[in-house]
Amino acid sequence: APPPATPQYRPAYHFTPAAHWMNDPNGMVYYQGTYHLFFQYYPDGMTWGPMHWGHATSPDMVSWQEQPIALAPDSLGYIFSGSAVVDKNNTAGFGKEALVAIFTHHDPKGEKAGTSTFQNQSLAYSLDAGKTWKKYGGNPVLKNPGIKDFRDPKVSWNEEIKTWVMTLATLDRITFYSSPNLKDWTKESEFGQKLGAHGGVWECPDLFPLTLSGKTYWVLLVNLNPGGPNGGSATQYFVGQFDGHRFTPLNDQTKWADYGPDEYAGVTWANTGNRRLFLGWMSNWDYANQVPTSPWRSAMTIPRELGLRQEGREIYLTSQPAPELNRLGSQATTLRNVAVKGSLDLTARLKSTTATHKLTLKTAQLGSFELVLANAAGEELVLGYDKPANQYFIDRSKAGQVSFSPKFAGRATAPRLSTAAGTELTLYFDAASVELFADNGLTAMTDIFFANKPLTSIKLRSAPGTTFQEISNTPLLSKPASK
Ligand code: FRU
Repeated sequence: APPPATPQYRPAYHFTPAAHWMNDPNGMVYYQGTYHLFFQYYPDGMTWGPMHWGHATSPDMVSWQEQPIALAPDSLGYIFSGSAVVDKNNTAGFGKEALVAIFTHHDPKGEKAGTSTFQNQSLAYSLDAGKTWKKYGGNPVLKNPGIKDFRDPKVSWNEEIKTWVMTLATLDRITFYSSPNLKDWTKESEFGQKLGAHGGVWECPDLFPLTLSGKTYWVLLVNLNPGGPNGGSATQYFVGQFDGHRFTPLNDQTKWADYGPDEYAGVTWANTGNRRLFLGWMSNWDYANQVPTSPWRSAMTIPRELGLRQEGREIYLTSQPAPELNRLGSQATTLRNVAVKGSLDLTARLKSTTATHKLTLKTAQLGSFELVLANAAGEELVLGYDKPANQYFIDRSKAGQVSFSPKFAGRATAPRLSTAAGTELTLYFDAASVELFADNGLTAMTDIFFANKPLTSIKLRSAPGTTFQEISNTPLLSKPASK
């Protein structure tokens, strides 16, 4: 039997399965007005197990409806991570406008037997807008050449060379493949064996174009576990050029899409036109199997819209909360010109009564400060900015339950990349998580925490003194109007 239920940790506007284990987002595709989210799912337990693709749909990436399981294990193995595309021109022959999923078949028997070819890429398709799926009879379509970690295909149509391109995680590098029909794949090139962070295995990649001042760049996301900037799993990225065959980075800098400990396996939606929309798994392999929730484990992050920004000589990926989230908002309470010297309790003035809310802080002159979210039991989540270190931070070591894993308690930090004098911080809280966006999305941090009572009191501390031009609190309890 599962441990006692923890409804207090169930988020209001982040996706969670009703019950059981979830990890990576998979096969995210926008199709005929609906956002589809598939996910690594084990329907028979609350820890990782034989993987299925769970399924959820949404008109706006904010309110989610869980659907029946899309893909279940078969004789070729478990259904590991992958992507989905709309095959507009019926290149695969499954049908016009077919949805095609490209995923990794992971054969647990082959793994046990000590072979190195137990991960292979396979197809499934849907002709009824994602409701039911058929696996392709010719699976696997891309056979393992003898690389133990050979998985998480992200496929997209490349308009320049009019072929499908697969970006595949292959142990310590990315391998690109091309195909005219999703069934026959040709190896194009490899990238990254000597670049980027390599504290663990490379997983769940993504490749997409974004423009900056009229110029197109390609972003390569590479998830890494372990070896993240705050321990365990995290999403690194490279900015460069892709000519349809080969990825060439602008330089050898390692950059992170999210510095917090709790965004992983993040990738983007297919078929969203010029928008680039990202979602990650809101946990970390260091303790994902131990987090104290029941009868489900793990949530997804909020949807984020990606962009590029130049800061000094570097081009960075920016992550901002998708504007669809604004539909959640109720009445905001806004304070202006708040001078903080020492400690200032803002609970009453910000009408803070719920742990599911958005806080924004604007300052023209960013100095060291701490924002303390607390409860009457003395638990507190402390986050803010440390000016001497030029870092944002989130400290959950006193924010409630931490003993379920020795790797959980701690203070996560992220460099401030902007050199502007002022900043705006946006913080999304939802029961057991906070997502921080600073400097228009140049720095993002995701942290989960498990307070024993909701953290509804809000205090600001600043020893040197900081003035905030604006502090705003918006409860996010209302469900968005569905289309
Ligand atoms: C990433 C990952 C993927 C794999 C999946 C298995 O979290 O390890 O590489 O496909 O999870 O559930």
